[in-house]
Amino acid sequence: GRVAVIMGGTSAEREISLRSGAQVLKGLLSAGVDAFAIDLGADGKEPIAQLLEAQFDRAFLILHGRGGEDGTIQGVLEMMGKPYTGSGVAASALGMDKLRCKQLWQGAGLPTPAFAVLDDTVDLKGVEQRLGYPMMVKPAHEGSSIGMSKVRNLEELESAYRAAREYDSSVLAEQWVNGPEFTISLLDDRALPVIRLETPHDFYDFDAKYQAGDTHYHFDTGLTERQTETLQGLALQAFQVAGCRGWGRVDAMMDANGQFQLLEVNTAPGMTDHSLVPMAARESGLSFEDLVLRILATVEG
Ligand code: DAL
Ligand code: MG
Repeated sequence: GRVAVIMGGTSAEREISLRSGAQVLKGLLSAGVDAFAIDLGADGKEPIAQLLEAQFDRAFLILHGRGGEDGTIQGVLEMMGKPYTGSGVAASALGMDKLRCKQLWQGAGLPTPAFAVLDDTVDLKGVEQRLGYPMMVKPAHEGSSIGMSKVRNLEELESAYRAAREYDSSVLAEQWVNGPEFTISLLDDRALPVIRLETPHDFYDFDAKYQAGDTHYHFDTGLTERQTETLQGLALQAFQVAGCRGWGRVDAMMDANGQFQLLEVNTAPGMTDHSLVPMAARESGLSFEDLVLRILATVEG
């Protein structure tokens, strides 16, 4: 049947989604799939009308951020009876909510950095005492490191909170983890090779992700075989506990005690030519075309 590659959207990650979507569409077309793009919300179009007008049998969802990666479109497609790639409504919503995802992982006994919820009533001094510096301040529902800052004192904590608050009414502060940072791509209940990220920036921020070109990606992770298995197992558990399916990517760091800490799960991770899932797939012998076909094969239709 006909595949709609649904991209764009109106989140802060719209431009990244368009880049991911263009690659996915190109990959599907060159693999001979009957596919076309829907740029959701383009020129202020009404997204539900766009979906209803389009003729398709399955959707390849490559929307990043709110209004697409968060269960909302997934719900519309459920109502329309159209199968779609990736996680369902609830898992997508959880994946987009760093706070509730961390609470869920904690409840399941999975390691994630200590954190505090920041709001206008919180005693920042208390947060400071509990978490110490540096800490990471992040909007709960953003991707691509948007609105995130590393803070080293109370003044920075206050201004980082205000900056994150611009993006989201829900903000959290996380205890700093020294790293290194790792990412684990998941395809159909299997972990792909682990990538270690090395950036000269303070952290793996938006610029490091998409612009600077100075991030180094290593398959030579420095981990032992046992550590690698532990990390891949943790990522898979983190994914499954949240109810995710199909494909995704779990980000994690190693702390000063050599313990892995889960940061977040992405249910529609980047698929740009700079992105990590395609890189991990290639390392495991899957071309970009193979990868998009495998993701598509996780849904019937
Ligand atoms: N949120 C971005 C697209 C990622 O996780 O790759
Ligand atoms: Mg993310």
